[in-house]
Amino acid sequence: MSTRANHPLQKDFNGHAVRELATRMKQMDGPLLPILHAVNEQFGYVDERALPVIADVLNLTRAEVQGVVSFYHDFRRTPAGRHVVKICRAEACQAMGAERLIGDMETALGVKLGETRADGQITFEPVYCLGNCALSPAALIDGQLHGRLNAAAALALAGK
Ligand code: FES
Repeated sequence: MSTRANHPLQKDFNGHAVRELATRMKQMDGPLLPILHAVNEQFGYVDERALPVIADVLNLTRAEVQGVVSFYHDFRRTPAGRHVVKICRAEACQAMGAERLIGDMETALGVKLGETRADGQITFEPVYCLGNCALSPAALIDGQLHGRLNAAAALALAGK
């Protein structure tokens, strides 16, 4: 459902800023990951168009940079929605009904897990253990940890 083009939260891509950042950091040991983290932090995601710029600065192929971005799930590939709901799918939360909770929330929020709603209001993402297993099912909603969630509570917290 989420699309990079015409995303309501899409910021103007700034290749110059990415090049400057990569150039400043390229002397580090193993600079690629720190550069990608810095881009992710500065822009809120790693735009597809940043990859050839970073590859050029580090003298890598675009495929090498793409491979690293794809391998690490930390890197957001599209801008996040206004609210970010990360729901735990690891074992303890699964045992306490996380999958049903996810289904209920997908229906109520109108967005599939792993996607951002078309209006840019909600990003709904899986995580794998938030260290809150004793209070499962757990979720991180706009950076705040919550436990023993049901769909109604999660939706209220997400400002649906
Ligand atoms: S398994 Fe969900 S918080 Fe640990």
